[in-house]
Amino acid sequence: MIEFSNRVNAVEPAAPFVITNLVSELQEEGEDIIDLSVGQPDFETPEEILEATHEALDAGHTTYTPSDGIPKLRRAAAEYLNERHGLDYAPENIIATPGGKQALFETVMAIVDPGDEVIVFDPVWSSYEPMVKLAGGEAVHVDLAPYDFKLEPAIDDLAAAITDDTALIMLNSPVNPSGMVFSHAAFEGVRDLAVDHDLPVISDEIYKELIFEKDQPSLAALDGMFDRTITINGVSKTYSMTGYRLGFMAAPTDHTTQAGKVHSHSVSCASNFVQHAAAEALGNADTDAIAGEMKETFRRRSETLVDLFAERGVDIPEPESAFYAMIPIESDDDMQWCKDAVREAGVGLVPGQAFGTPGYVRASVVDTEDQIREAVDRLDAEGFI
Ligand SMILES: Cc1ncc(COP(=O)(O)O)c(C=O)c1O
Repeated sequence: MIEFSNRVNAVEPAAPFVITNLVSELQEEGEDIIDLSVGQPDFETPEEILEATHEALDAGHTTYTPSDGIPKLRRAAAEYLNERHGLDYAPENIIATPGGKQALFETVMAIVDPGDEVIVFDPVWSSYEPMVKLAGGEAVHVDLAPYDFKLEPAIDDLAAAITDDTALIMLNSPVNPSGMVFSHAAFEGVRDLAVDHDLPVISDEIYKELIFEKDQPSLAALDGMFDRTITINGVSKTYSMTGYRLGFMAAPTDHTTQAGKVHSHSVSCASNFVQHAAAEALGNADTDAIAGEMKETFRRRSETLVDLFAERGVDIPEPESAFYAMIPIESDDDMQWCKDAVREAGVGLVPGQAFGTPGYVRASVVDTEDQIREAVDRLDAEGFI
Protein backbone atom coordinates (compact mmCIF):
# COMPACT_ATOMS: atom_id res chain seq x y z
CA MET A 1 0.00 0.00 0.00
CA ILE A 2 1.16 3.49 -0.70
CA GLU A 3 1.08 5.83 2.28
CA PHE A 4 0.64 9.36 1.08
CA SER A 5 2.31 12.43 2.53
CA ASN A 6 0.59 14.83 4.91
CA ARG A 7 1.41 17.46 2.32
CA VAL A 8 -0.63 15.89 -0.44
CA ASN A 9 -3.36 14.73 1.94
CA ALA A 10 -3.83 18.37 2.95
CA VAL A 11 -5.15 19.40 -0.47
CA GLU A 12 -8.10 18.50 -2.69
CA PRO A 13 -8.17 18.30 -6.51
CA ALA A 14 -8.82 21.69 -8.16
CA ALA A 15 -12.57 22.27 -7.62
CA PRO A 16 -13.28 23.89 -11.02
CA PHE A 17 -12.26 20.60 -12.61
CA VAL A 18 -14.96 18.75 -10.63
CA ILE A 19 -17.56 20.65 -12.65
CA THR A 20 -15.59 20.70 -15.90
CA ASN A 21 -15.19 16.90 -15.64
CA LEU A 22 -18.92 16.46 -14.97
CA VAL A 23 -19.68 18.66 -17.99
CA SER A 24 -17.48 16.58 -20.28
CA GLU A 25 -18.92 13.30 -18.96
CA LEU A 26 -22.45 14.49 -19.73
CA GLN A 27 -21.40 15.92 -23.09
CA GLU A 28 -19.90 12.51 -23.95
CA GLU A 29 -23.31 11.03 -23.21
CA GLY A 30 -24.81 13.46 -25.72
CA GLU A 31 -26.24 16.04 -23.27
CA ASP A 32 -26.45 19.63 -24.46
CA ILE A 33 -24.47 21.62 -21.86
CA ILE A 34 -23.54 25.30 -22.06
CA ASP A 35 -20.20 25.28 -20.35
CA LEU A 36 -19.41 28.51 -18.54
CA SER A 37 -17.06 26.77 -16.10
CA VAL A 38 -13.78 26.89 -17.98
CA GLY A 39 -11.07 29.49 -17.44
CA GLN A 40 -9.93 30.04 -20.98
CA PRO A 41 -10.84 32.33 -23.88
CA ASP A 42 -12.97 30.81 -26.67
CA PHE A 43 -10.70 32.40 -29.30
CA GLU A 44 -8.34 30.70 -31.73
CA THR A 45 -4.61 31.13 -31.21
CA PRO A 46 -3.58 33.88 -33.68
CA GLU A 47 -2.35 32.63 -37.07
CA GLU A 48 1.12 34.20 -36.84
CA ILE A 49 1.75 32.41 -33.55
CA LEU A 50 0.62 29.09 -35.02
CA GLU A 51 2.98 29.67 -37.93
CA ALA A 52 5.86 30.40 -35.56
CA THR A 53 5.04 27.13 -33.76
CA HIS A 54 5.21 25.15 -37.01
CA GLU A 55 8.43 26.89 -38.00
CA ALA A 56 9.99 26.11 -34.62
CA LEU A 57 9.12 22.44 -35.02
CA ASP A 58 10.41 22.38 -38.61
CA ALA A 59 13.63 23.97 -37.40
CA GLY A 60 14.08 21.10 -34.95
CA HIS A 61 13.55 23.01 -31.72
CA THR A 62 12.63 19.84 -29.88
CA THR A 63 15.52 19.47 -27.45
CA TYR A 64 15.99 20.69 -23.88
CA THR A 65 16.78 24.38 -23.55
CA PRO A 66 18.66 26.32 -20.87
CA SER A 67 16.63 25.80 -17.70
CA ASP A 68 15.45 29.41 -17.31
CA GLY A 69 14.45 29.64 -20.98
CA ILE A 70 15.90 30.49 -24.38
CA PRO A 71 17.56 33.94 -24.48
CA LYS A 72 15.17 35.12 -27.21
CA LEU A 73 12.14 34.46 -25.01
CA ARG A 74 13.63 35.90 -21.82
CA ARG A 75 14.52 39.05 -23.78
CA ALA A 76 11.06 39.26 -25.35
CA ALA A 77 9.33 38.76 -21.98
CA ALA A 78 11.42 41.46 -20.29
CA GLU A 79 10.85 43.93 -23.14
CA TYR A 80 7.14 43.14 -23.22
CA LEU A 81 6.78 43.86 -19.48
CA ASN A 82 8.88 46.99 -19.73
CA GLU A 83 7.14 48.45 -22.77
CA ARG A 84 3.57 47.48 -22.02
CA HIS A 85 3.44 47.39 -18.22
CA GLY A 86 5.94 50.12 -17.29
CA LEU A 87 8.37 47.71 -15.62
CA ASP A 88 12.15 47.55 -15.65
CA TYR A 89 13.31 43.98 -16.06
CA ALA A 90 16.37 42.49 -17.75
CA PRO A 91 16.37 39.00 -19.35
CA GLU A 92 18.20 37.73 -16.22
CA ASN A 93 15.08 38.52 -14.20
CA ILE A 94 12.93 36.09 -16.21
CA ILE A 95 12.29 32.37 -15.82
CA ALA A 96 10.06 30.84 -18.51
CA THR A 97 7.85 28.15 -16.98
CA PRO A 98 5.29 25.62 -18.22
CA GLY A 99 2.36 27.96 -17.48
CA GLY A 100 2.20 30.89 -15.10
CA LYS A 101 0.89 28.33 -12.60
CA GLN A 102 4.30 26.70 -12.40
CA ALA A 103 5.92 30.11 -11.85
CA LEU A 104 3.54 30.64 -8.91
CA PHE A 105 4.30 27.18 -7.54
CA GLU A 106 8.07 27.61 -7.81
CA THR A 107 7.82 30.98 -6.10
CA VAL A 108 5.76 29.62 -3.22
CA MET A 109 8.16 26.69 -2.84
CA ALA A 110 11.11 29.07 -2.81
CA ILE A 111 9.69 31.40 -0.14
CA VAL A 112 7.33 29.49 2.15
CA ASP A 113 8.54 27.28 5.02
CA PRO A 114 6.39 24.96 7.12
CA GLY A 115 4.48 27.08 9.64
CA ASP A 116 4.67 30.26 7.55
CA GLU A 117 1.56 32.28 6.86
CA VAL A 118 0.68 33.54 3.39
CA ILE A 119 -1.96 36.21 2.88
CA VAL A 120 -4.51 35.74 0.10
CA PHE A 121 -7.59 37.75 -0.83
CA ASP A 122 -10.98 36.05 -1.15
CA PRO A 123 -12.30 35.37 -3.70
CA VAL A 124 -8.94 33.79 -4.45
CA TRP A 125 -7.92 31.73 -7.45
CA SER A 126 -8.43 28.11 -6.47
CA SER A 127 -4.78 27.00 -6.67
CA TYR A 128 -3.21 29.60 -4.36
CA GLU A 129 -4.10 27.97 -1.04
CA PRO A 130 -3.23 24.42 -2.16
CA MET A 131 0.18 25.68 -3.32
CA VAL A 132 0.75 27.22 0.11
CA LYS A 133 -0.33 24.00 1.82
CA LEU A 134 1.92 21.90 -0.39
CA ALA A 135 4.80 24.06 0.82
CA GLY A 136 3.73 23.38 4.43
CA GLY A 137 2.39 26.90 4.99
CA GLU A 138 -0.98 28.22 5.99
CA ALA A 139 -3.13 30.62 3.98
CA VAL A 140 -4.57 33.59 5.87
CA HIS A 141 -7.64 34.93 4.10
CA VAL A 142 -8.62 38.57 3.77
CA ASP A 143 -12.26 38.56 2.67
CA LEU A 144 -13.21 41.07 -0.02
CA ALA A 145 -16.81 39.84 -0.36
CA PRO A 146 -18.12 42.44 2.14
CA TYR A 147 -16.58 45.16 -0.06
CA ASP A 148 -18.08 44.09 -3.40
CA PHE A 149 -14.75 42.36 -4.11
CA LYS A 150 -12.76 45.63 -3.98
CA LEU A 151 -9.39 45.69 -2.24
CA GLU A 152 -9.08 49.34 -1.28
CA PRO A 153 -11.62 49.20 1.57
CA ALA A 154 -9.88 46.07 2.91
CA ILE A 155 -6.39 47.50 3.39
CA ASP A 156 -6.97 47.78 7.18
CA ASP A 157 -8.02 44.12 7.16
CA LEU A 158 -4.80 43.30 5.35
CA ALA A 159 -2.81 45.21 7.97
CA ALA A 160 -4.58 43.25 10.71
CA ALA A 161 -3.84 39.93 8.99
CA ILE A 162 -0.05 40.47 8.98
CA THR A 163 1.76 38.69 11.82
CA ASP A 164 5.36 37.76 12.66
CA ASP A 165 4.74 34.51 10.76
CA THR A 166 3.68 36.20 7.53
CA ALA A 167 6.12 35.20 4.80
CA LEU A 168 4.35 36.30 1.63
CA ILE A 169 1.37 38.18 0.19
CA MET A 170 -0.26 36.74 -2.93
CA LEU A 171 -1.98 39.44 -4.95
CA ASN A 172 -3.92 38.83 -8.16
CA SER A 173 -5.43 41.64 -10.22
CA PRO A 174 -7.30 41.55 -12.58
CA VAL A 175 -8.92 38.94 -10.40
CA ASN A 176 -9.92 35.45 -11.30
CA PRO A 177 -12.76 34.80 -10.28
CA SER A 178 -14.44 38.22 -9.77
CA GLY A 179 -13.18 40.11 -12.84
CA MET A 180 -12.31 43.06 -10.56
CA VAL A 181 -9.37 45.38 -11.21
CA PHE A 182 -7.80 46.76 -8.04
CA SER A 183 -7.26 50.52 -7.84
CA HIS A 184 -3.99 52.46 -7.67
CA ALA A 185 -4.79 53.29 -4.05
CA ALA A 186 -5.21 49.58 -3.27
CA PHE A 187 -1.87 48.77 -4.89
CA GLU A 188 -0.25 51.57 -2.90
CA GLY A 189 -1.87 50.24 0.28
CA VAL A 190 -0.33 46.82 -0.35
CA ARG A 191 2.99 48.46 -1.15
CA ASP A 192 3.04 50.48 2.08
CA LEU A 193 2.36 47.41 4.23
CA ALA A 194 4.82 45.21 2.32
CA VAL A 195 7.56 47.81 2.75
CA ASP A 196 6.73 48.45 6.44
CA HIS A 197 6.79 44.74 7.24
CA ASP A 198 9.59 43.87 4.80
CA LEU A 199 7.45 41.29 2.95
CA PRO A 200 7.69 39.86 -0.55
CA VAL A 201 4.59 40.01 -2.75
CA ILE A 202 3.53 37.90 -5.71
CA SER A 203 1.71 40.09 -8.21
CA ASP A 204 -0.15 37.80 -10.58
CA GLU A 205 -0.97 40.03 -13.56
CA ILE A 206 -1.85 37.32 -16.05
CA TYR A 207 -5.10 39.08 -17.08
CA LYS A 208 -3.60 42.57 -17.29
CA GLU A 209 -4.07 42.89 -21.06
CA LEU A 210 -7.78 42.13 -20.68
CA ILE A 211 -8.74 45.15 -18.55
CA PHE A 212 -11.81 46.81 -20.10
CA GLU A 213 -11.13 50.43 -19.20
CA LYS A 214 -9.50 51.09 -15.86
CA ASP A 215 -5.81 51.71 -15.47
CA GLN A 216 -3.92 49.34 -13.21
CA PRO A 217 -0.28 49.74 -12.26
CA SER A 218 2.15 46.84 -12.14
CA LEU A 219 3.12 46.34 -8.53
CA ALA A 220 6.86 46.07 -9.19
CA ALA A 221 6.81 49.55 -10.78
CA LEU A 222 5.76 51.20 -7.50
CA ASP A 223 8.47 52.80 -5.37
CA GLY A 224 10.08 50.30 -3.04
CA MET A 225 8.58 47.25 -4.76
CA PHE A 226 11.01 46.07 -7.44
CA ASP A 227 13.18 44.13 -4.99
CA ARG A 228 10.26 42.47 -3.22
CA THR A 229 7.85 41.68 -6.09
CA ILE A 230 7.54 38.54 -8.13
CA THR A 231 5.50 39.41 -11.22
CA ILE A 232 3.63 36.52 -12.82
CA ASN A 233 2.43 36.62 -16.39
CA GLY A 234 2.22 34.41 -19.47
CA VAL A 235 0.76 33.88 -22.90
CA SER A 236 -2.21 31.65 -21.96
CA LYS A 237 -4.91 34.29 -21.71
CA THR A 238 -3.64 37.26 -23.73
CA TYR A 239 -2.93 35.20 -26.84
CA SER A 240 -5.37 32.35 -26.27
CA MET A 241 -2.57 29.82 -25.83
CA THR A 242 -3.64 27.95 -22.68
CA GLY A 243 -2.63 24.55 -24.04
CA TYR A 244 0.88 25.69 -24.91
CA ARG A 245 1.61 25.88 -21.19
CA LEU A 246 3.93 28.85 -21.16
CA GLY A 247 4.19 31.51 -18.51
CA PHE A 248 6.95 33.32 -16.72
CA MET A 249 8.04 34.98 -13.53
CA ALA A 250 9.89 38.29 -13.48
CA ALA A 251 11.74 38.93 -10.26
CA PRO A 252 14.97 40.15 -8.69
CA THR A 253 17.81 37.74 -9.46
CA ASP A 254 18.14 36.58 -5.84
CA HIS A 255 14.62 35.18 -6.24
CA THR A 256 15.11 33.73 -9.73
CA THR A 257 18.27 31.99 -8.49
CA GLN A 258 16.34 30.27 -5.67
CA ALA A 259 13.13 29.59 -7.60
CA GLY A 260 15.33 28.44 -10.48
CA LYS A 261 16.43 25.51 -8.31
CA VAL A 262 12.82 24.35 -7.93
CA HIS A 263 12.39 24.91 -11.66
CA SER A 264 15.44 22.96 -12.82
CA HIS A 265 14.79 20.08 -10.39
CA SER A 266 11.13 19.74 -11.34
CA VAL A 267 10.50 20.61 -14.99
CA SER A 268 14.08 21.17 -16.28
CA CYS A 269 12.78 23.76 -18.74
CA ALA A 270 9.64 24.82 -20.59
CA SER A 271 9.01 23.07 -23.90
CA ASN A 272 11.47 24.26 -26.54
CA PHE A 273 9.27 24.98 -29.59
CA VAL A 274 6.63 26.46 -27.31
CA GLN A 275 9.20 28.95 -26.06
CA HIS A 276 9.84 29.99 -29.67
CA ALA A 277 6.12 30.49 -30.25
CA ALA A 278 5.84 32.52 -27.05
CA ALA A 279 8.78 34.70 -28.11
CA GLU A 280 6.88 35.45 -31.31
CA ALA A 281 3.72 36.30 -29.34
CA LEU A 282 5.43 38.57 -26.84
CA GLY A 283 7.94 40.06 -29.25
CA ASN A 284 6.14 40.45 -32.56
CA ALA A 285 2.40 39.83 -32.35
CA ASP A 286 -0.02 42.75 -32.49
CA THR A 287 -0.99 42.50 -28.83
CA ASP A 288 -3.26 45.57 -28.95
CA ALA A 289 -5.31 44.05 -31.75
CA ILE A 290 -5.40 40.50 -30.36
CA ALA A 291 -6.22 41.39 -26.75
CA GLY A 292 -8.35 44.34 -27.89
CA GLU A 293 -10.75 42.15 -29.83
CA MET A 294 -11.01 39.70 -26.97
CA LYS A 295 -11.65 42.25 -24.30
CA GLU A 296 -14.33 44.07 -26.32
CA THR A 297 -16.10 40.75 -26.83
CA PHE A 298 -15.78 39.80 -23.16
CA ARG A 299 -16.94 43.22 -22.07
CA ARG A 300 -20.12 42.95 -24.18
CA ARG A 301 -20.84 39.45 -22.93
CA SER A 302 -20.20 40.44 -19.29
CA GLU A 303 -22.60 43.36 -19.65
CA THR A 304 -25.20 41.03 -21.13
CA LEU A 305 -24.79 38.60 -18.24
CA VAL A 306 -25.05 41.36 -15.63
CA ASP A 307 -28.17 42.81 -17.35
CA LEU A 308 -29.88 39.43 -17.65
CA PHE A 309 -29.40 38.73 -13.95
CA ALA A 310 -30.38 42.29 -13.00
CA GLU A 311 -33.67 41.79 -14.90
CA ARG A 312 -34.24 38.81 -12.61
CA GLY A 313 -33.41 40.74 -9.45
CA VAL A 314 -29.84 39.46 -8.97
CA ASP A 315 -26.98 41.97 -8.62
CA ILE A 316 -23.64 40.81 -9.98
CA PRO A 317 -20.62 42.93 -8.95
CA GLU A 318 -19.79 44.37 -12.36
CA PRO A 319 -16.69 42.76 -13.90
CA GLU A 320 -13.97 45.19 -15.02
CA SER A 321 -11.78 42.76 -16.95
CA ALA A 322 -11.24 39.33 -18.45
CA PHE A 323 -14.10 36.86 -18.72
CA TYR A 324 -15.23 36.11 -15.19
CA ALA A 325 -18.17 37.15 -13.03
CA MET A 326 -19.26 36.09 -9.55
CA ILE A 327 -23.00 35.49 -9.26
CA PRO A 328 -24.65 35.45 -5.82
CA ILE A 329 -26.87 32.41 -5.25
CA GLU A 330 -29.31 31.34 -2.56
CA SER A 331 -27.92 28.03 -1.37
CA ASP A 332 -25.82 26.74 1.53
CA ASP A 333 -24.07 24.28 -0.75
CA ASP A 334 -22.78 25.91 -3.89
CA MET A 335 -20.98 22.72 -5.04
CA GLN A 336 -24.25 20.80 -5.00
CA TRP A 337 -25.99 23.78 -6.65
CA CYS A 338 -23.44 23.69 -9.48
CA LYS A 339 -23.74 19.93 -9.94
CA ASP A 340 -27.54 20.28 -10.06
CA ALA A 341 -27.27 23.20 -12.50
CA VAL A 342 -25.23 21.02 -14.88
CA ARG A 343 -27.61 18.06 -14.64
CA GLU A 344 -30.94 19.89 -14.53
CA ALA A 345 -30.35 23.12 -16.47
CA GLY A 346 -27.43 22.00 -18.62
CA VAL A 347 -25.24 24.94 -17.53
CA GLY A 348 -21.68 24.60 -16.19
CA LEU A 349 -20.62 27.08 -13.47
CA VAL A 350 -17.98 26.85 -10.74
CA PRO A 351 -18.91 26.90 -7.02
CA GLY A 352 -17.73 29.92 -5.04
CA GLN A 353 -16.29 27.63 -2.35
CA ALA A 354 -13.50 26.87 -4.83
CA PHE A 355 -12.45 30.50 -4.37
CA GLY A 356 -13.14 30.90 -0.64
CA THR A 357 -16.49 32.65 -1.26
CA PRO A 358 -19.38 30.27 -0.70
CA GLY A 359 -22.74 31.72 -1.69
CA TYR A 360 -21.52 32.61 -5.17
CA VAL A 361 -20.84 30.79 -8.42
CA ARG A 362 -18.35 31.83 -11.07
CA ALA A 363 -19.43 32.23 -14.67
CA SER A 364 -16.88 32.49 -17.49
CA VAL A 365 -18.36 34.37 -20.45
CA VAL A 366 -16.57 32.13 -22.92
CA ASP A 367 -19.52 31.38 -25.16
CA THR A 368 -21.58 33.54 -27.54
CA GLU A 369 -24.08 36.12 -26.29
CA ASP A 370 -26.90 33.90 -27.58
CA GLN A 371 -25.61 30.98 -25.56
CA ILE A 372 -25.24 33.18 -22.49
CA ARG A 373 -28.88 34.26 -22.90
CA GLU A 374 -29.89 30.65 -23.32
CA ALA A 375 -27.90 29.66 -20.20
CA VAL A 376 -29.64 32.32 -18.09
CA ASP A 377 -33.06 31.30 -19.48
CA ARG A 378 -32.35 27.68 -18.61
CA LEU A 379 -31.22 28.54 -15.06
CA ASP A 380 -34.34 30.67 -14.64
CA ALA A 381 -36.67 28.00 -16.03
CA GLU A 382 -35.25 25.33 -13.72
CA GLY A 383 -35.54 27.51 -10.62
CA PHE A 384 -31.85 28.33 -10.10
CA ILE A 385 -32.48 32.09 -10.22
C1 LIG B 1 -5.20 34.04 -11.56
C2 LIG B 1 -4.47 33.07 -12.41
N1 LIG B 1 -3.13 33.02 -12.32
C3 LIG B 1 -2.41 32.18 -13.06
C4 LIG B 1 -3.02 31.32 -13.94
C5 LIG B 1 -2.14 30.38 -14.69
O1 LIG B 1 -2.35 30.29 -16.03
P1 LIG B 1 -1.35 29.46 -16.94
O2 LIG B 1 -0.74 28.41 -16.07
O3 LIG B 1 -2.19 28.89 -18.02
O4 LIG B 1 -0.33 30.43 -17.42
C6 LIG B 1 -4.41 31.32 -14.07
C7 LIG B 1 -5.12 30.38 -14.97
O5 LIG B 1 -6.30 30.17 -14.92
C8 LIG B 1 -5.15 32.23 -13.29
O6 LIG B 1 -6.48 32.31 -13.38
